[in-house]
Amino acid sequence: METISTLKIEKRSNSKIGDVDFNNLPFGSVFTDHMFSCEYVNGQWQQSEIIPYGPIPMDPGAKVFHYGQAVFEGMKAFKDDNGKVFLFRPEDNWARINKSAARLAMPEFPKESFMEGLKELLKLDDAWIKSGEGNSLYIRPFVIATQSGVSASPSDRYKFIIILSPAQSYYAGEVNVVFAEKYSRAADGGVGFAKAAGNYAAQFYPTDLAKKEGYQQIIWTDASTHEFLEEAGTMNVFFRVGDKLLTAPTNDRILDGITRKSVIQLAKDAGIDVEVRQVSVKEIVAAAQAGELKEIFGVGTAAVVVPFKSFGYQDVNHKLNAPENSYGLKFKKMLNDIQYNRAEDKYGWRVVVK
Ligand code: COI
Repeated sequence: METISTLKIEKRSNSKIGDVDFNNLPFGSVFTDHMFSCEYVNGQWQQSEIIPYGPIPMDPGAKVFHYGQAVFEGMKAFKDDNGKVFLFRPEDNWARINKSAARLAMPEFPKESFMEGLKELLKLDDAWIKSGEGNSLYIRPFVIATQSGVSASPSDRYKFIIILSPAQSYYAGEVNVVFAEKYSRAADGGVGFAKAAGNYAAQFYPTDLAKKEGYQQIIWTDASTHEFLEEAGTMNVFFRVGDKLLTAPTNDRILDGITRKSVIQLAKDAGIDVEVRQVSVKEIVAAAQAGELKEIFGVGTAAVVVPFKSFGYQDVNHKLNAPENSYGLKFKKMLNDIQYNRAEDKYGWRVVVK
């Protein structure tokens, strides 16, 4: 056992890495040797630790099981061709998990423990981070309510955990999307902006229905009128009409995506006209009919940038033929070049781990 400032480290005696086929990695299905863990008890976060990855003992009465008091983040680590490891805008993830936690009446986690714990965890499991285009290590920090009790009130005990999963692409095949006409993801004053676990569970049933119609994801519309386009499944969404880029403004229904804001910045730097405003279903359907809708793409940490092949609305499928100078692919390359340390990092988004 080793201790680094407030962090206790217990290493696994033998690595599982030899059992992993790194050429065949369905997203999020394999986890590394270690995890970070910290408990909140008596109104305080206790000593953080890095321990071998494994099951966590939980009381069946724990509030997370009954009331879904759980929030999470998605981040990635990248390795360049010289073996250097980087995070991408990690402080934004730290700030956002605390914003999500506050909305679910959960305690905030201190920045130093987050950054130190994460960096030490990555150093320990460095062999799991593969270099090369498309390879990354997906990082999943999460907080769960562990107090036993089925009274509907906030827990007084929590666990903050970080697990790591070597990743390649999120989607195995093409992605077609359908505009939501009946179900909703988030409402005014709700928790749509937070990475609350339940936001994702609530999408599973309507997404399963969409899959039966041949669509892999839903583009969620505003809950009250279904007239405005908001988020694409687990991603933020951009529309290219002519040479202009459109995306919805963030609000209490929409996640303040780190990839989203990076793409807006990169688009501006590339001299592309970006309009951050409400985007109506009507204008996108009209643009598609007029041949002016060039692209729709989703952006997020796990998926990076995903150009959609078609969108469905009112039982009509509109094909999207990828243009030669695809904005989506251009932003994907620009982001990857920064993330893999191949391009200048003007805004200091890259943070060195080792
Ligand atoms: C991410 O992109 O990191 C997300 O949190 C989406 C997740 C459902 C995979």
